[in-house]
Amino acid sequence: MVQSATAKELFNLSGRVAIVTGGSVGLGRQMAEGLAEMGANVVLCARKKERCEQAAEELRLLGVKTLALGCDVKNPDQVQAVVNATVSQFGRIDILINNAGTSWGAAVEEMRLEHWNKVIETNLTGTFLFSQAVGKVMVPQRRGKIINIASVAGLRGAPPEFQAIGYHASKGGIIAFTKDLACKWGIHNIQVNAIAPGWFPTNMSQVVIERNKDAFLGKIPLRRFGNDHDLKGAAVYLASDASDYVTGHVLVVDGGQTA
Ligand SMILES: NC(=O)c1ccc[n+]([C@@H]2O[C@H](COP(=O)([O-])OP(=O)(O)OC[C@H]3O[C@@H](n4cnc5c(N)ncnc54)[C@H](OP(=O)(O)O)[C@@H]3O)[C@@H](O)[C@H]2O)c1
Repeated sequence: MVQSATAKELFNLSGRVAIVTGGSVGLGRQMAEGLAEMGANVVLCARKKERCEQAAEELRLLGVKTLALGCDVKNPDQVQAVVNATVSQFGRIDILINNAGTSWGAAVEEMRLEHWNKVIETNLTGTFLFSQAVGKVMVPQRRGKIINIASVAGLRGAPPEFQAIGYHASKGGIIAFTKDLACKWGIHNIQVNAIAPGWFPTNMSQVVIERNKDAFLGKIPLRRFGNDHDLKGAAVYLASDASDYVTGHVLVVDGGQTA
């Protein structure tokens, strides 16, 4: 018989091991902090290793262990190196957040193939490469949580003022990838879910948000942008035992923008 657990136990991440790609700044940093606050040890990776080291140092103050690694998610060898380093340091991987992402703004008619490819390879192929490499650890463990960071941009189109078709396509792809992988790896007790954030001011979004502030706010029922902790709850929930019967889900965190 399965033993009953309290809600506090279900959300507890003490001793769990999480990799957060792009965990150095922005939404990745926020989610890594949320997991660390619930007790998880966190591995942060991105291309700029110094920013990962800085974030890792700050998160260590929460009393957890951290590891900072340089990695381009487009590069299979570098992805494998992060997985190897994590297993050698911690012996397992419980949680993967595929958060690293990029965008490119250009009209569809003008979008250069190299820019389209960069966005698809970072957002979608990077998610595939990390899931594949981490899956090889999670499958034999017979447990794991994969959280893919999509976007409301993956759920619907945008008017002609907002031109980032590669970004929309990559995020729609991440949602389809999440659902299919959930169907494939359910038999291994691995839950695969996505979070679709709305507008959060970060390096990536700041300029667009500033330029369109009033128009955006008018379409958000809660009349504000996402803040420095609005994603923590969704990340902790999908990383924890509290979501053990949830897989293939897209959790929208957008202030009601797509309601
Ligand atoms: N901000 C929003 O409003 C919003 C809304 C919906 C979804 N999202 C999604 O949230 C995620 C985080 O975005 P953010 O807003 O926090 O942006 P951000 O502040 O620009 O952070 C992006 C992170 O991804 C890393 N990264 C970029 N390319 C990478 C690569 N090739 N390999 C490894 N790491 C890479 C960056 O570090 P390096 O540059 O050092 O590699 C950085 O850590 C993205 O997937 C984004 O699409 C954001």
